[in-house]
Amino acid sequence: MSTRSRTPEAFSIVIFGATGDLAKRKLFPALFGLYKTGLLPEHFRVVGTGRTPRSTDEFRESVRASVSEFGRLKPDSNAEWQDFAGRFYYAASDVNDPRGYGEIRSIIESFEKEHALPGNRLFYLAISPDLFGAVSRHLRDSGLTETAGWKRLVIEKPIGHDHASAKALNGQIKQTFTEEETYRIDHYLGKQMVQNIDVIRFANSMFEPLWNHHYIECVQITASEIVGVEERAGFYDRTGALRDMVQNHMLQMLMMVAMEPPSRLKTEAIHDEKIKVLRSLRRYTEEEAGEHVIRAQYLAGSIEGKQVPGYREEKNVRFDSNTETFVAAKLYVDNLRWAGVPFYVRTGKRMAEKATEIVIQFRNVPKNLYFNKHNNLNPNLLVISIQPNEGIQMVLNARHPGDDSRIVPVAMEFSGNFGKSVPEAYESLIHDAIIGDQTFFTHWEEVSLAWKFIDPIRRAWDADKHPLYHYASGTWGPQEAHELLAREGHAWWPVTGRRDHRIIRVGQ
Ligand code: BG6
Repeated sequence: MSTRSRTPEAFSIVIFGATGDLAKRKLFPALFGLYKTGLLPEHFRVVGTGRTPRSTDEFRESVRASVSEFGRLKPDSNAEWQDFAGRFYYAASDVNDPRGYGEIRSIIESFEKEHALPGNRLFYLAISPDLFGAVSRHLRDSGLTETAGWKRLVIEKPIGHDHASAKALNGQIKQTFTEEETYRIDHYLGKQMVQNIDVIRFANSMFEPLWNHHYIECVQITASEIVGVEERAGFYDRTGALRDMVQNHMLQMLMMVAMEPPSRLKTEAIHDEKIKVLRSLRRYTEEEAGEHVIRAQYLAGSIEGKQVPGYREEKNVRFDSNTETFVAAKLYVDNLRWAGVPFYVRTGKRMAEKATEIVIQFRNVPKNLYFNKHNNLNPNLLVISIQPNEGIQMVLNARHPGDDSRIVPVAMEFSGNFGKSVPEAYESLIHDAIIGDQTFFTHWEEVSLAWKFIDPIRRAWDADKHPLYHYASGTWGPQEAHELLAREGHAWWPVTGRRDHRIIRVGQ
């Protein structure tokens, strides 16, 4: 398990794609966050590489701009900044050209020699996945991966666009890096409340006896966004919400909720249990997909009072595109614990609110009994709010003060950030990669099984076997996503912000 207090050994990190968006928005601010909180060792070096020619001074300036715009933490003094930035170097190179790797190697080797270090090297590929294979090969051929210390590779999704392409890519990477050296990022696993799921489940004895089909009616996982495709239309139009969000983030959250208690809180044991969930996940054929998985695309509408265009009117989107920007699905984990319990997942762009939330809905008190005489009692809920407000809510029923006959839902609430600024997902994941903790990274088997689940659905949609529905921007998705649950006698719970008006907080 991740131990944030562990200070890593001296290391170098090479960032491929150092002039790109991910480096600017996430990686540099995360590295500064780690530095500022004392989680980096005394000696470390960052080598940025990209096609754009840049001097090291210019590179340091760009790192400064990114930290001041996107950083959770900022430098307090110029001296502090100079100490941090002095570790950054730039080597312009085309990743396909073996010559660039020589310069990277000499920057790293001079650092290792200067401090008599064994040579711990982390290679971070913030570049297009088509290049992962070529870069891994060049890293090996250039001798950069021959080191007495450790070597690790960090890669971002998407890992392939289906099972076959992911397998081919993995095969290329394997020529240079073993599974134990490959860190596949799913940034949802870096979010504090996603990491909290196993603590909530396994550190509280009250939940385990209830965590099964006898007591749980359904699970709902929502990840809604208000943004549209923004600058990524070219990528998104080829990808769609199923590959962009469901194959990875949504299934990861599902695994965390559904997994069996691991034999030990160790990476391998946790990965094993997550993998078993995907093995039990009911696969739909192309035909069955129509009944259980809904796809939809946003139309024009209003977000926070502003008119926004429909998906097909966005820049760089094909005018007749059928790419889905919303997916809702009813999933089943076919094992003894979860037999018959639907896991509803929904995700989409241009929805009414930005929120990621997991709702565990418990079975209700039997109908027509005691307080449920009129069959209108609210079920108990455990709500895990992942963002924007981290926290947990338990929704119970209580007598309304002063009104004997009224039973109202009340929420007990805990704020997950303890009032502090919480480390960004990337801070925690980069730290884990440098201390060698793979717990919150994705194992190849997870990627592989997730694609096997996704592929038939994708094929059915590509062949237009099932309808593409539509929803107005600023709403909670198409009517059909509500009907998906209504057929089972369920309904989507409004996300926490929306539910508040119906719930009296304990103590108020
Ligand atoms: C990314 C997707 O993985 O996650 C994006 O590619 C999406 O399309 C993003 O916007 C959402 O992440 P977060 O952390 O903002 O919920």
